[in-house]
Amino acid sequence: MATTIVVGNFKGGVGKTKVSVMLSWELSKYYNKKVLLVDMDPQGNASTLIARSAGVSELNTSIFDGFQKGDLKDCIVNVADNLHVIPAQVSFKNLPKFLYSKFENEIDQVSYLNQLLDPIRSDYDYIFIDVPPTISDFSDNAMMAADYVLIILQAQELSLEGAETYIKYLQFMVDNYDADIQVAGVLPVLLRPGGRVDMSTIERAKEMFGEDNVMKTVVKHLERLKAWDVTGITDNDQHDRKAHKVFTDVLDELLEKLEAFEEGGKYE
Ligand SMILES: Nc1ncnc2c1ncn2[C@@H]1O[C@H](COP(=O)(O)OP(=O)(O)O)[C@@H](O)[C@H]1O
Ligand SMILES: [Mg+2]
Repeated sequence: MATTIVVGNFKGGVGKTKVSVMLSWELSKYYNKKVLLVDMDPQGNASTLIARSAGVSELNTSIFDGFQKGDLKDCIVNVADNLHVIPAQVSFKNLPKFLYSKFENEIDQVSYLNQLLDPIRSDYDYIFIDVPPTISDFSDNAMMAADYVLIILQAQELSLEGAETYIKYLQFMVDNYDADIQVAGVLPVLLRPGGRVDMSTIERAKEMFGEDNVMKTVVKHLERLKAWDVTGITDNDQHDRKAHKVFTDVLDELLEKLEAFEEGGKYE
């Protein structure tokens, strides 16, 4: 049965999509895991990047088709061995309207992705969900469908803004909709070039999220990671290998954490 993970932060441009894509890529390619990446962002950046990297020229299906049909199977694209994607297109922006006309009940509206994933969870080891940076039906559906959230911490900023809002909202989802989701970790990301981790931000993050929850691995700023937006993910030289290592390091720490959660029982 798949472990379902959403990468969260209520701000744009903090590296959510990059992290979702890279963790999916590394797990399927170098860890021999079966992975599904679900693109819940109508901008479709995650699906485009994965398709480009795998040499798939066109994605002519959309998650919205699956939502309308009540079955996601036909919109799963097999982009590489072990790596499947459910792509998003801009038309998916109409999801809220669709949900309100289909369901009267709020819980049903936010739980539809969860319901649609149930029949396919056993086909995968991991399911990643990429979300837009908004508090919306998109992120609500992702939270309801996920077992874990990996929260992005902007490690160069003096404020914990995006990550802090995320935690508050998570609590709201637990209180109002009985969401069954656990924080897998808080991942520091350096998005500006030449920057260092701001230690006071890390310290405050530890106070806020718990010492053990803030990950020791940091996603560094690497030009190569940005270049892959254009070229697709490659593995040809030492710069590529350095960029891959960032995410295999994240995975090694993350998988260890997940294992500990599973052993201890999610809520003990
Ligand atoms: N570690 C990194 N080093 C350099 N550039 C990065 C890194 N992570 C993300 N980027 C770039 O920053 C931009 C925003 O990242 P993205 O993952 O799309 O953020 P979000 O999904 O949170 O909006 C993209 O152009 C991406 O290529
Ligand atoms: Mg994104």
